[in-house]
Amino acid sequence: MWGMKNRLGKLFKKDGHCFFLPIDHGYFQGPTQCLEKPGETIKPLLPYCDALFVTRGVLRACIDPTNTLPIILRVSGGTSMVGKDLANESLTTSIQEILRLNAAAVGLSIFVGSDYERETLLNLAKLVDECESYGIPVMAVTAVGKEMEKREARYLSLCCRIAAELGARVVKTYWCEKDFDKVVNGCPVPVVIAGGPKCETEQEVFKFVYDGMKKGAVGINLGRNVWQSPHPVAMARALQAIIHESANLPQAVEIFNEFKNK
Ligand code: 5RP
Repeated sequence: MWGMKNRLGKLFKKDGHCFFLPIDHGYFQGPTQCLEKPGETIKPLLPYCDALFVTRGVLRACIDPTNTLPIILRVSGGTSMVGKDLANESLTTSIQEILRLNAAAVGLSIFVGSDYERETLLNLAKLVDECESYGIPVMAVTAVGKEMEKREARYLSLCCRIAAELGARVVKTYWCEKDFDKVVNGCPVPVVIAGGPKCETEQEVFKFVYDGMKKGAVGINLGRNVWQSPHPVAMARALQAIIHESANLPQAVEIFNEFKNK
């Protein structure tokens, strides 16, 4: 499958690692802080990241088609922060649109253990069927909605394995302090670490990314901890160094400080 390999090759660099920058938050949160104008937010960050995770609406309205990164199109949604249940998502984007927008991959959320477990897992299976026909990789996002306490190894292992079994080529899941290696080891496809709400310090971010990579993740999909930072470019550059240059924590901090003062 040349097309599939070509698309995966755009997302994962030669070292097999990736730094995805998500700017899809508006699809259920509205104009998230620092993402009011997504096109402006990402401009200085593009040189340090490998792909953008974005909805078709923001893509069309805010992203320069002639000068950007590979696109992972967010294709699930239909819920909002103020609605009844964030888990009640459907597919929002047709295969024709995915092809027309030249997506390098698509991403959708699954909500294992929620009232909408079955629907969201069948969304994944349907999307895999459609996208595989055209060589487009599907990234499953193991989402927890507002139930952030669900983020522990047993639950995340279950979600990641199910996503892979249903045909996801990549799984994005949360980092957990204990037994993250078990989450990765139980998943037969690459695991990318999701971000979550902004951490108190940059060092905290560097640490969980560094530890996650050591425990087998292939990269990150980090949004708020990058573009809500007072120093987004320094954050992006330091994370790039951890992901692609094997930087350790002191080296990441040094790079961050160097870029922060530029
Ligand atoms: C939301 C998503 C987002 O892409 C991603 O998780 C948001 O990134 P961050 O949490 O790092 O701001 O999938 O379900």
